Amino acid sequence: MAAKRGAARGRKTGFATNAIHAGQHPDPATGAVMQPIYQVSTYRQPGLGAGWVHDYARTINPTRSALERNLCALEGGLEARCFASGMSAIAAVMNLLRSGDHVVVSRNVYGGTYRLFEGLLRQFGLDFTWVDTSDLAAIEAAVTPATKMLYVETPTNPVLGLTDLAGASRIARRFKLRLVVDNTFMSPYFQQPIAFGTDIVVHSTTKFLNGHSDSVGGCVVTTREADAQRIGWLQNSVGAILSPMDSFLVLRGIKTLPVRMERHDESGRKIAAWLTGRRKIKAVYYPGLKTHPQHALAKKQMSGFGGMISFELGALSHAKKFLGRLSLCALAESLGGVETLISHPASMTHGAVPKGERKRIGVSDGLVRISVGLEDPADLIADLDQALGAL
Ligand SMILES: Cc1ncc(COP(=O)(O)O)c(C=O)c1O
Repeated sequence: MAAKRGAARGRKTGFATNAIHAGQHPDPATGAVMQPIYQVSTYRQPGLGAGWVHDYARTINPTRSALERNLCALEGGLEARCFASGMSAIAAVMNLLRSGDHVVVSRNVYGGTYRLFEGLLRQFGLDFTWVDTSDLAAIEAAVTPATKMLYVETPTNPVLGLTDLAGASRIARRFKLRLVVDNTFMSPYFQQPIAFGTDIVVHSTTKFLNGHSDSVGGCVVTTREADAQRIGWLQNSVGAILSPMDSFLVLRGIKTLPVRMERHDESGRKIAAWLTGRRKIKAVYYPGLKTHPQHALAKKQMSGFGGMISFELGALSHAKKFLGRLSLCALAESLGGVETLISHPASMTHGAVPKGERKRIGVSDGLVRISVGLEDPADLIADLDQALGAL
């Protein structure tokens, strides 16, 4: 689909301009400045064999295509394809592999990714080695002759560990692996993995890209022709497509991505600093803190630190009491919305990860993760403060 391709190539305009305009054209029928929702399953064709591009809406939908062009431009890829969820986007990427292939993967990834890899894909003959990808030597040591992919989440969910993208890309080149990066936590506004040599970027658009906690979706951005072809083929063949309404919502969300991310970042820094000073908090994980072991790397490969923070309360009973006392911050799965969401990774997002494995990667029973929203930071701090007072 040539119309989806390389919207970022040669582009001189800035990110905020691209977020609003890239891949968008006024509706040819009415001039509508916002991409209409094409709530349609099929299209009347002008004649048999006329080569009509819009043949069936699983294969192509104008609302989804507009979002795909936009995401392709923002990540600087060759082609983007949108899926029904972040997980279906990740599943599509894994379908590039064949039985017998081996994957080196960040040991701390979203729990659903762990569940998909270990609970389903292993059954189809894929093999996974979980390593601390913040250690480039550990990545290299895990590569075998069967390794075909290096799958990285950076920063990781939920302990905010970083992988050196340029270093990971060098290893991927040397061993001829596809480097896949889940860029959900930073969004393309703060991190551009393709610029560091990443081959494929995945997102849960459910999070910062959509930004309003009212849509579930995912996307895959490819950089190589063969991968673009295959992901497009998989999108059509498996059929886990993003709906027209969801495509519209994500497209609308992206238009304010830069302003939202700036505010997530500003408030994230304030709240991380405040949490750091609290006696009842044993540790704070946030790449923007000077105490974060990879703060220098964060400054090198990210242009902001975002609004995701995790902190250690020391025990499940403390986490339970604290979460029960909050009123403005919502105890909820997910992240990246305008409202502040707070979760308990061990029992929520990472419930599918076995306890021993959780312990190894630092997801303790006392760990709490906050997705700092766009409310007044003083109000958020007041809420966190009164809940901490209960401990
Ligand atoms: C980093 C990351 N990747 C992927 C996913 C999966 O996305 P979805 O829930 O849209 O399927 C999530 C969900 O929380 C996530 O946090």
